[in-house]
Amino acid sequence: MNLATRTFISAVIAADLLAIVYFGGTYALTGSMLPHHEETKIIVAGAEEASSTETASKAAEPAFDPATYVANVENGMKISAKCKACHTFDNGGPDRTGPNLWGIVGASVGHREGYAYSSAMLAKKAEFGNWDKEHLNAYLENPKEYVPGTKMQFNGIKKPAERADLIAWLETLK
Ligand code: HEC
Repeated sequence: MNLATRTFISAVIAADLLAIVYFGGTYALTGSMLPHHEETKIIVAGAEEASSTETASKAAEPAFDPATYVANVENGMKISAKCKACHTFDNGGPDRTGPNLWGIVGASVGHREGYAYSSAMLAKKAEFGNWDKEHLNAYLENPKEYVPGTKMQFNGIKKPAERADLIAWLETLK
């Protein structure tokens, strides 16, 4: 190896070392900055995603319109699970905490002979007579508000579409 070659080689090595130091340093610098940077990005991206899916689900759920809503009887049957702690629904089924509900749509308020209804419920019987869909809908939305003093300890079903599904299923019990 002559001197020129050696100088060249050591110059290349020196340049490499410099490059390593330089880029290594830059890497270390940006490396230490990156996580913060990325963290902010992730949080922002997550927030955007959450809000955009929220908007999407809101958009997918149009305002409830009883005139055009097509009730889902099968879903109504599933929702009735919420009632089964207190009610039976089969023809000839027993009264439990609450009365049996076979044939309840169109039946008289307090329709079960021998079941001890609250005086609040019996007052409703005098007031409107039968459980048509409108009265059922109002009772199931907020039992305690619609029949003040009712002994049905149930908070109600707040979504109108769910009540419509449930009432559609109740109608099949005849
Ligand atoms: C924690 C127990 C409980 C749950 C849960 C419950 N109910 Fe009741 N329900 C009662 C009781 C008790 C009464 C009697 C109310 C009274 O006399 O004031 C009643 C009465 C009723 C009546 C009036 C019946 C009649 O003969 O006039 C209807 C209709 C009714 N419930 C529907 C439902 C539906 C539908 C659900 C589920 C979405 C439900 N209930 C959930 C306890 C319950």
